[in-house]
Amino acid sequence: MPYAPDRIAVPLPAGFVFGTATAAYQIEGSTEAAGRGPSIWDTFSHTPGKTRNGDTGDVACRHYERFEDDLDLMAELGVGAYRFSISWPRIQPTGKGPASSEGLDFYRRLVSGLRARGISPMVTLYHWDLPQPLEDAGGWPERDTVSRFAEFAAIVADGLGAEAASWITLNEPWCSAWLGYGSGHHAPGKRDIGLALAAHHHLLLAHGEAVRAIRASVPGARVGISLNLQPVRPASDHPDDVAAARRVDGNHNRIYTGPLFAGAYPADMLEHYRGHTPGLSVIRDGDPETIARPIDFVGINYYSTATVADESRAQAATAAGYCVPAGSRDDLLMTDLRAVGLARPAFERTAMGWEVEPEGLTELLLMVHAVAPGTPVYVTENGAACNDYVDPDGTIRDADRIRYLDGHIRAALRAREQGASVAGYFVWSLLDNFEWAFGYSRRFGLVWMDYPSGSRIAKDSFRWYQQALARNSLVPVADALAEARG
Ligand code: FCB
Repeated sequence: MPYAPDRIAVPLPAGFVFGTATAAYQIEGSTEAAGRGPSIWDTFSHTPGKTRNGDTGDVACRHYERFEDDLDLMAELGVGAYRFSISWPRIQPTGKGPASSEGLDFYRRLVSGLRARGISPMVTLYHWDLPQPLEDAGGWPERDTVSRFAEFAAIVADGLGAEAASWITLNEPWCSAWLGYGSGHHAPGKRDIGLALAAHHHLLLAHGEAVRAIRASVPGARVGISLNLQPVRPASDHPDDVAAARRVDGNHNRIYTGPLFAGAYPADMLEHYRGHTPGLSVIRDGDPETIARPIDFVGINYYSTATVADESRAQAATAAGYCVPAGSRDDLLMTDLRAVGLARPAFERTAMGWEVEPEGLTELLLMVHAVAPGTPVYVTENGAACNDYVDPDGTIRDADRIRYLDGHIRAALRAREQGASVAGYFVWSLLDNFEWAFGYSRRFGLVWMDYPSGSRIAKDSFRWYQQALARNSLVPVADALAEARG
């Protein structure tokens, strides 16, 4: 069922925050400036075969040098908030010890530049760039990394203080644990379910410890976490498919929402993961209370939904019209969950291959509302990689991105109307950037990056977002497109 854009105008609610998001390693470049140390993503991207085309973040968008340009772009865009991350190895080059004053100064300048332009800074402490020496000492599967992160959180909180409007401890701990230590698709590239589980628990613990550290340094700080929760749908109502979807939902969603909001891991997942080493044997007394420390908001990063079948029913799913994408059968995580990921051929998809399903965002926000009622929720990432190109007249006509963003903002507002406490929405991303294992081959930006020269060109979607924010409403996409073209 291809996605059809809404044909009515909707007002943007007063007080609702609109922003854009980025992450340090994806945009900054200057990886050796001012004594910055290496992170696991420097090591991983410099390892042959790990990223598309061997791309690295060495230069990226040169944001470290050109951040004033990016601040000006955001002021022009008219956003109320900017979500960015702090590069841990810029602050503590080896992952421990005193803060680098030059490292902290860079973020102080960034934050005051935002404040000067009336843009509210949302700081993410960890968006995947663990200092390499900490990985050499065992990384996230090692409990000491939790203490190191709490120390880093305290340094940054002391350094930026109340200037940061809100704090996100971790970005998508699922990716850090399961792609980093499980499937090996992300840094540090380990493939071991037992390590992924230990990393998972320590990441959640690190979140809880960072909540305490930030609150101790910045009284009244607003602190949250960004999770990539995802609606998981069974391919059919066959009990085996339903059970498979429940297991995948357990791995993707419930082993986060359980400990964070209900103080416990779900019993079925504890049972499922019994027997892996070190696995969840790393849990100690007192950890559940630390992880469940109250937070002020939840960040949700949403791109698409998942459809799965039981491993024994892939053929039945194919007969029912689903596709089994290449690679989904030998995915280590899914094999462990005895499930297979499916694609729905009728769906429009982005350049990542992700199905476009805005309704999934409404559903997810209502799900979060059910497990954490009353907690404000921000969509801290949402966006689309499209096959953008610069027209001979110098413009980038990314109508597909405009339709995607329009549909998802409407979907977020629908969840709000249905009672979810949705407080804001951030487009991923301000700029095209280093898309992890995909390198520079995927473009998510509202702004086109000409990588060789470092110049930035606003895409049509930038103008569209700018107009929506200026007039405080979404008009039907067809009208907006005509208008954006002038
Ligand atoms: C999310 C990441 C973000 C970006 C988008 C496309 O998983 O948090 O850095 O890569 O996906």
